[in-house]
Amino acid sequence: MALDAGTPLDAGPGTEGVARWLRSALGAATGLPFAPGGGPRAVRLRVDPGIERASGPEGYRLSTDGSVEDAAVLVEGGAAAGVFWGVQTLRQLLGPDAYRKAPAGPHGRVWELPRLTVTDAPRFRWRGLMLDVSRHFMPKDDVLRQLDLLAAHKLNVFHFHLTDDQGWRIEIRRHPRLTEIGSWRARTKWGHRASPLWNETPHGGFYTQDDIREIVAYAAERHISVVPEIDVPGHSQAAIAAYPELGNSDVVDTASLAVWDTWGVNPNVLAPSETTLRFYEGVFEEVLDLFPSTFVHIGGDECPKDQWKRSPAAQARIAELGLADEDELQSWFVRHFDRWLADRGRRLIGWDEILEGGLAPGAAVSSWRGYAGGVAAAEAGHDVVMCPEQHVYLDHRQAPGDDEPMPIGYVRTLEDVYRFEPVPAGLSPEAAAHVLGTQANVWTEVMENRARVDYQVFPRLAAFAEVAWSELPAPADRDFADFERRMTAHYRRLDALGVDYRPPAGPSPRQRRPGVPGRPIEGAPPNV
Ligand code: ACM
Repeated sequence: MALDAGTPLDAGPGTEGVARWLRSALGAATGLPFAPGGGPRAVRLRVDPGIERASGPEGYRLSTDGSVEDAAVLVEGGAAAGVFWGVQTLRQLLGPDAYRKAPAGPHGRVWELPRLTVTDAPRFRWRGLMLDVSRHFMPKDDVLRQLDLLAAHKLNVFHFHLTDDQGWRIEIRRHPRLTEIGSWRARTKWGHRASPLWNETPHGGFYTQDDIREIVAYAAERHISVVPEIDVPGHSQAAIAAYPELGNSDVVDTASLAVWDTWGVNPNVLAPSETTLRFYEGVFEEVLDLFPSTFVHIGGDECPKDQWKRSPAAQARIAELGLADEDELQSWFVRHFDRWLADRGRRLIGWDEILEGGLAPGAAVSSWRGYAGGVAAAEAGHDVVMCPEQHVYLDHRQAPGDDEPMPIGYVRTLEDVYRFEPVPAGLSPEAAAHVLGTQANVWTEVMENRARVDYQVFPRLAAFAEVAWSELPAPADRDFADFERRMTAHYRRLDALGVDYRPPAGPSPRQRRPGVPGRPIEGAPPNV
């Protein structure tokens, strides 16, 4: 079985977008035209409702074994998404050169395919990567490239962490100072927060609303949903620097706050006022216009309550609402947006701190401080995405020793990630059904550019992708030697894609950063 210049592409109803992707990506890599047409030499794409009934919209069947009449290759999916994942498998079978942007081999090359049939479907419907573009801004083209990398690994959720203390990255038309002021900081901590070193170059950037539309459309063409995160009520100093009335101005001089230049948990949180609620409703109105995703992430993590304890206005609010304490005030804040989003047909998701003070009725939880928050939420009937920092925080170092470019957090090797289990043993079957899936998180305090992000994310994202997609044995029984053997082929694909991954033998001299102030303390809290 082989593809060549005479291979037509026969795209059935509903697969036009997949055909467009195939022609642009595989066409570019191979130089083949994939002209429209059918017949026995064609690659045929079809949606098959039978597959959807049996294994869902993302299930697919790929046949190259010659058993299909009138087509050389048949890719059938439960929906277009399944056809798209089937085409990703087809690309894997074509070899590493199929991941390039132009033909690297001899002119007139024939693209051999092994003869086989693959029947496949994902274990989880939420297979995500969270990227923090606040701590370090990632230019739009690099975000689009990340989406290509997610698609190549059959991941389907891009959790876009757009706002934090260190930078506001999304244009909001009705509040222009969010990006005029909030998207730039004067300097940046180099290394973890206790490091004495600074990078004195101003850092910033943001996405215009047209950039966001482009990113969302690019993701949709790859069957990836983009979940925006606008962090409230903590992690908000960039917004307060732009609009000081959003902060607790009765206890701190919020007008003197700048976009934060260091790392850690920040005491400057939003005031629980009507002004703040109306302001963020305006922000979310624009966000909903841009992002069709059902889920909208409101952060909710790491909101210190000290300012609310000292603020007469916050205390008056607690009394007026009849709340017991500051935790309930945070819960009230989250509930407000839970209702507000539900009224608009969306669903709120937040970090597991939103459990404190009582979980809003429709809320889903990203369980990051371990499994416990996710377990409690799932047992209470809430949907959960498992992303425990002990396992899938890809900013954490990949090996012990001083060679890692920025040795922060837990040591989590490729093998550790391969042995990560998103559904903890002991969860009741009803609760387990509330685990929507899993995601890896990438916080970028110590990743100042794309190459640094590549190094932290790869190859571990390949192990994560297999965990998120496949039904694997229990962690101790997983065949890591087999995974490593298959990785030898995958490293060639990553090379073709130009991914600056961590080599199995450790960082190359170019990737090392001798003498950087990392924090090599196993078991330490996560905030760099
Ligand atoms: C988090 O890592 N603060 C969600």
